[in-house]
Amino acid sequence: MIQAENNRLLFPNLSGLPEGIRAPLLEQSQYLVYGELKEWQGPKNEIFSPVIFSENGSLKRVRLGSYPEMDAEAMDEVLNAAHKAYDLGRGEWPTMKVSSRIRHVEKFLHVMQGLRKETINWLMWEIGKSEADSAAEFDRTTEYIMDTIQALKTMDRESARLELHQDIYAQVRRGPLGVVLCMGPYNYPLNETFATLIPALIMGNTVIFRPARYGILLMRAFLDAFKECFPPGVINVIYGDGETTAGTLMKSGRIDVLAFIGSSRVANILKKQHPRSNRLRSVLGLDAKNPAIILADADIEAAANECVNGALAFNGQRCTALKMIFVHRSIVKEFLKIYCAKVEQLKMGLPWEKDVNITPLPEPGKPAYLHELVQDALSKGAGICNEGGGNAYESFYAPTVLYPVNSTMRIFEEEQFGPVVPILAFDNVEEPISYMVTSQYGQQVSIFGKDAGEIANLIDPLVNQVCRVNINTKCQRGPDVYPFNGRKDSAEGTLSVNDALRVFSIRTMVATRDTEDNRALFTSILEDRSSNFLSTDFIL
Ligand code: G3H
Repeated sequence: MIQAENNRLLFPNLSGLPEGIRAPLLEQSQYLVYGELKEWQGPKNEIFSPVIFSENGSLKRVRLGSYPEMDAEAMDEVLNAAHKAYDLGRGEWPTMKVSSRIRHVEKFLHVMQGLRKETINWLMWEIGKSEADSAAEFDRTTEYIMDTIQALKTMDRESARLELHQDIYAQVRRGPLGVVLCMGPYNYPLNETFATLIPALIMGNTVIFRPARYGILLMRAFLDAFKECFPPGVINVIYGDGETTAGTLMKSGRIDVLAFIGSSRVANILKKQHPRSNRLRSVLGLDAKNPAIILADADIEAAANECVNGALAFNGQRCTALKMIFVHRSIVKEFLKIYCAKVEQLKMGLPWEKDVNITPLPEPGKPAYLHELVQDALSKGAGICNEGGGNAYESFYAPTVLYPVNSTMRIFEEEQFGPVVPILAFDNVEEPISYMVTSQYGQQVSIFGKDAGEIANLIDPLVNQVCRVNINTKCQRGPDVYPFNGRKDSAEGTLSVNDALRVFSIRTMVATRDTEDNRALFTSILEDRSSNFLSTDFIL
């Protein structure tokens, strides 16, 4: 049990863990290449949990194990594996019937469902995510896979027919793009990774997958599942630092699609490394600093609830988190009072504690970075408005509400990705609008208010600044059937259950002139079921 005491957090002994909670330990020495789990003979990196314990009077991050630090030379082997399986589009996987690829993914889903308990445990220990949020991440991912299968069946049914236009018969379907390099973020190492990995696979691409910066060891059990459920080379899993692994892969020019959720800085470096940029497609989820705009007539209580959750769920480590709150000056005092009271109710603790909200941060340098942002704001006129705000202890950073924030402060532009909430007062709604227009980010906004006319006037200009305008609702990605994307430095391409199938594929067709001979030829192929592509079979 962690308790706040004298603005410090006290950590328990490892022996004081509750029943059923144990730190996992895994010396992960294998990588997956062409259906084989290979032993990595080179150097390894150690992984430490953001969860800290006291041992013999000193505080220590719990060691969780180690993973392979693969080098540039090893990238050739995985590239060759992925290319061999794709075989320039002639491989078994890219030419397979859609219904057969679906069966592989269904088998994977079945195996994955057996990994729920251990994955939740790893999420708690590797990235400090609360048990409830870890369970939600796992369940949302399996649901996403089920929805993806249904969406592909629907898409396939819609293309299970021939069209006739201007005496040309055609069957149009979606085909794979090639070899995909897939990398997810540490805040959703399972969900956001699989939200690109599964659509990429199911559309017939082959994949090289590198786990997120944190949330690495949780993937070990999935290597067995990948090996068991997919043909050799269809999915290959590598480990190691991004510059060495992803950089080498991109420089090879043999990556067809970059699927990356992370910073725009890294995405730009990776894209530039590819020697034939015209051949590279990118599916990117990048930086964001979503603002909330609280209008003068807003229901303050309801807005505060949405903004506490919107800004501080998983310690503010969501790309969709509210990272700037603009409040009309006429209600800012009342809003701050209600907002801070709610923030003070948030429970700090270890991930498995009941109803915990604020948990340890996985990035070792994050508390120091947040401290810098807060000190910078304080030195330029902001104050900390909530009790306990500004306190850091080891891997914890207490939720911190800053007011009044202004444009000279670093927090005004930098994406804090942590539990610091900057609040600004505005007199004229043009002020937050101008913030959005000039911002480098363009993901979402939340508007809180009651006046239909005023909100309608905001919707029209703001839908062209961001890609989702939330009314009296926090910013969020889900439900996953809705498009998830962004403008400017926030994204490239659109993800959703349906859109992801499209971004990892290209429309391709078979066509013929409407003559008696050609009709007979097509009829014969269709009746004999001799092509997987030219087919009117209906997947039920
Ligand atoms: O980190 C970005 C995630 O896609 C956010 O998803 O809004 O459902 O938490 P969420």
